[in-house]
Amino acid sequence: MAPRLGIVLVILALISYSDGVVPGNDVKCSIPDFYHGNWYSQEAGVDIDTLVNGDFWEIQTLPRLKLECIQSYTHIIKGVEQDGQNRTMLMKEITNDPNPCYFCVDVLWRTKAILQYRKDDCVKPNSGVNIDINVTCKAMDSFFGLPGTDETFTMFKKDPPNINCITTFEGVYQFSYEVDVGGGGICNNPKSQIKACQDPGSPYVDNQVFRMTYAKCADVSTSRDDQIRYQCLGSWFAVKSGVGYTYAAIMDTVEGDPREVYKCLMTLRNQKDANNQIRWVMSRFAECGSLNSIYRGPLKLVLTRIPPPTPYMSPKCNLPRNITGSWLTQGIQYRSDVVVNDTHLIMSTKINQFEFQETHFSCQQTLGTRYLMTKVVVGKCEVDFVCFDIMPRHHSIVRYRVVNPPSAVPCPIAGRYYFTQEAINEDEKYATRIRGVTLRPRIQVDCRDVQAEFKSCSMNMDKIEVDAEYCETVDYRGRPIGEYGKFIAVF
Ligand SMILES: *[C@@H]1O[C@H](CO)[C@@H](O)[C@H](O)[C@H]1NC(C)=O
Ligand SMILES: *[C@@H]1O[C@H](CO)[C@@H](O)[C@H](O)[C@H]1NC(C)=O
Ligand SMILES: *[C@@H]1O[C@H](CO)[C@@H](O)[C@H](O)[C@H]1NC(C)=O
Ligand SMILES: *[C@@H]1O[C@H](CO)[C@@H](O)[C@H](O)[C@H]1NC(C)=O
Repeated sequence: MAPRLGIVLVILALISYSDGVVPGNDVKCSIPDFYHGNWYSQEAGVDIDTLVNGDFWEIQTLPRLKLECIQSYTHIIKGVEQDGQNRTMLMKEITNDPNPCYFCVDVLWRTKAILQYRKDDCVKPNSGVNIDINVTCKAMDSFFGLPGTDETFTMFKKDPPNINCITTFEGVYQFSYEVDVGGGGICNNPKSQIKACQDPGSPYVDNQVFRMTYAKCADVSTSRDDQIRYQCLGSWFAVKSGVGYTYAAIMDTVEGDPREVYKCLMTLRNQKDANNQIRWVMSRFAECGSLNSIYRGPLKLVLTRIPPPTPYMSPKCNLPRNITGSWLTQGIQYRSDVVVNDTHLIMSTKINQFEFQETHFSCQQTLGTRYLMTKVVVGKCEVDFVCFDIMPRHHSIVRYRVVNPPSAVPCPIAGRYYFTQEAINEDEKYATRIRGVTLRPRIQVDCRDVQAEFKSCSMNMDKIEVDAEYCETVDYRGRPIGEYGKFIAVF
């Protein structure tokens, strides 16, 4: 018995004497490009800048901490295909110290502009432990897995790529807000509004930003008048305390105080609120940990859909008196309640047990039994025009036809015309739009005669072509010149 015990003790002593086991020094992994960038985070109230490239993960606080990847593991969920991946990396401190720190870094890729990460405590080889990603890093143990939102810090990309707002906000809302300090109370001013609309003709910016207008309430000390343009940094889904929330990150495009530039937001999809309202909570700083539920967070917002603001909602004609009242329709929208007064028609359609959609029509022009009406859907951005043909009332049934464009028919007018434009807003006028990236650089032609052209020609009379800036200059042979004409000559 005694000799065997002696051998065991010797072996134990040897292990603790050798400096543990570390992965080979020349083995390195490169950090994937979807983590690269200049990131900002707020960790325990401290501003942190982190620079990540293929070789290093550098936390630029004092003292700086520069890490390189030694071992890495990609957490793949079947069926999830995104532009980035979740990883656990075993990282080594780059230092002159012969006994460097090793850290486990778990990264959750959320959007192209948002990463969440957890960095565990330093582990040193001389402590005698075996340093290996599968042994050292908690996330490799399926019992623990990747960290939850609360265990991570959120990093916001300093120079974010363009990300569409549609997954965050889309449409028009009025909101009430409550700042969670000093018992300020709820400010519910009708002028507090969110406008997240994509303006036609400017596809570059408008769907990547939205406008939030805060209006003050006289009796709420924490309320204020302010208008902020937020850039969207994307949204993601995460489970917190057993509840699946939608998170989103936004960036104030002009705020000077770096701590207040980035915000995290949280909501529940399908809130099924009887008043058709949507609750969000928003952080004050660049972190998501303070958002505890849709009722608990630094800023509580209750959004109510409203019709998009448009001058075309003010009525310019009257609907027939004898259709005023409340109706039920089975027409364009299945089972809607319809309320008609002298000038407006309001249709409420149930979407499900809790939610409904409201469509407003306003009389703009009338001819005989036909009524041209502005149409807006509450909470949506679009302003459309539809034509109603209201047929004579028969007992307690009003019949109408909504004239939608069916198949094209030849235009009653043909020919080529010049036109001038009159509009309430400058942006409603026809303008030349060139979307996206052109295949080749556009050639600037010297056009001496630009005309607004409207034409419907005999070869295709079911089309009207409108060109607000048609170049009428001709070359020496009498052919129209233009950039496309030039291309043919050049290529
Ligand atoms: C990363 O992990 C989170 C939480 O475990 C998960 O919801 C998400 O889908 C994962 N993302 C990717 C790109 O795998
Ligand atoms: C760690 O474990 C995974 C399986 O969970 C295995 O595929 C991988 O080879 C292991 N890595 C090392 C360095 O042992
Ligand atoms: C008709 O209804 C609209 C929308 O509800 C309202 O704005 C307008 O004041 C009403 N008009 C009259 C004459 O009551
Ligand atoms: C309303 O009354 C007018 C005249 O009183 C009639 O010509 C018209 O057909 C009626 N409209 C409807 C929708 O019944």
